Amino acid sequence: MSLPLLSVASEAFPLIKTGGLADVVGALPQALAEQGVAVRTLIPAYPAVLAEAARVGAAESPLTPGLEAQAGPGRLLAFTSHGRDFIALDLPQFFNREGAPYLTPEGRDWPDNPLRFAALSRAAAEIGLHGIEGWKPAVVHAHDWQAGLTPAYLHYAGQPRPGTVITIHNIAFAGKCALSLRERMHLPPEALLPEGVEFYGSLSLLKGGIAFADRVTTVSPTYAAEICTPEGGMGFDGILRARGAAVSGILNGIDTEAWDPRTDAALAAKFDPLNLIKRGANKAELQARFGLPRSPDTLVYGVVSRLSWQKGLDLLLQVLPELMASGAQLAVLGNGDRPLEDGFRAAMQAHPGQISCVIGYNEPLAHLVQAGVDALLVPSRFEPCGLTQLYALRYGAVPVVGRVGGLADTIIDANPMALAAGAATGLQFSPITAEGLAAALRRTAILYANRTAWKQMQVNGLATDVSWREPARHYAALYRSLAAA
Ligand code: ADP
Ligand code: GLC
Repeated sequence: MSLPLLSVASEAFPLIKTGGLADVVGALPQALAEQGVAVRTLIPAYPAVLAEAARVGAAESPLTPGLEAQAGPGRLLAFTSHGRDFIALDLPQFFNREGAPYLTPEGRDWPDNPLRFAALSRAAAEIGLHGIEGWKPAVVHAHDWQAGLTPAYLHYAGQPRPGTVITIHNIAFAGKCALSLRERMHLPPEALLPEGVEFYGSLSLLKGGIAFADRVTTVSPTYAAEICTPEGGMGFDGILRARGAAVSGILNGIDTEAWDPRTDAALAAKFDPLNLIKRGANKAELQARFGLPRSPDTLVYGVVSRLSWQKGLDLLLQVLPELMASGAQLAVLGNGDRPLEDGFRAAMQAHPGQISCVIGYNEPLAHLVQAGVDALLVPSRFEPCGLTQLYALRYGAVPVVGRVGGLADTIIDANPMALAAGAATGLQFSPITAEGLAAALRRTAILYANRTAWKQMQVNGLATDVSWREPARHYAALYRSLAAA
């Protein structure tokens, strides 16, 4: 019999996406269906989600009186879109806002974000306890801080409840707010004890998940180990160590249908591992789109990323003089922190025809970059999993990555033994400093000049299983153990 599961998150591709979280929440249900897990995904009814619900037609259910008392009038909308079953939490006062889901038009966090996402978590807990349309989940799976209070609400309800899992996609976002918001979140006074959701004098939504979920997962085994250390735990390492074996890492996969170079409509030329030569047309198109001189033999580096401290792209800015001297080209697609956006714009002006950037968010262009560049740079300081290096493997771009988190777990470094064994899929570097990155770029240029070794890495990447199949098996086994308990 299939296991009913409620997944709860603040974004899900293709309805609403700001980063990898949406990719994971959107793709995992399909893979879980093959493992006998029937997923419904609870997300906020942002305008784009309301529009999709109206387009496909949705069944409406009332909110519980408790949730309305906490969050105001609203409703639940159940609908199926792109083969996935969604439940949208329609709380107009919280979610009917245009633009990016978390930010004001001026680019600042909405001040009421903690209340908005406490309401999302409360809705998940209510569905966990009372069901919807006669359907009740055996397990509730919460993602990141926005859904973090779900296990806490279920715990404090003090009733028979479904099993709970929280997945940490990024521990840097603790979802912190003032302790005084506790009452408006309808959490009991004891929630403010250290064993509750208190976190260094604040209330942390993520802590609700870490403290109360039956199991805590993160998106790679190495990141699972890193967050248990003072360096990587961002204040949560103590409680994570205390949770012991309840904490584990399950590597992300990717949606191999949305990301398939044999069928991808965003490419200038579709290709498969047997006709890699066709990538050349994508490289030419990429150079044209970025305004770089068409040059089939020039090593082209690409970046597809949020521009933030996490991603280490300030290190790339530091090593640009050496990179430019080597004659390579660089195409950057990204947006985020203003100083980094400005830094890449300035670099483009200083090195026209060699560096080009598109500052913004562009899903089809992200596909073309993966299909057209020779090497994809991911110099992250920390990276829970990272998806862009997985897309690179699937699209024949050689990933050059910092040796941290999921990057360490997914790329086989081109060290002499891996090269001799014909096993390398990319390059890893450490320490993650400007000098470490510069050394990696020198190593990349040498490997690129060795066309046999380079092609072997591309072929190995294309042969790597980056699908959700294996990760979904791990999640399904985890859910079953909780449902049985
Ligand atoms: P994170 O979630 O930390 O941003 P991931 O590597 O897990 O990092 O996922 C990032 C996702 O966002 C990928 O799907 C990537 O292609 C996409 N992405 C990031 N920046 C852009 C952009 N400027 N335009 C299009 N897609 C982007
Ligand atoms: C986060 C992490 C990223 C991960 C993604 C999906 O945004 O920064 O490393 O791949 O979540 O799990």
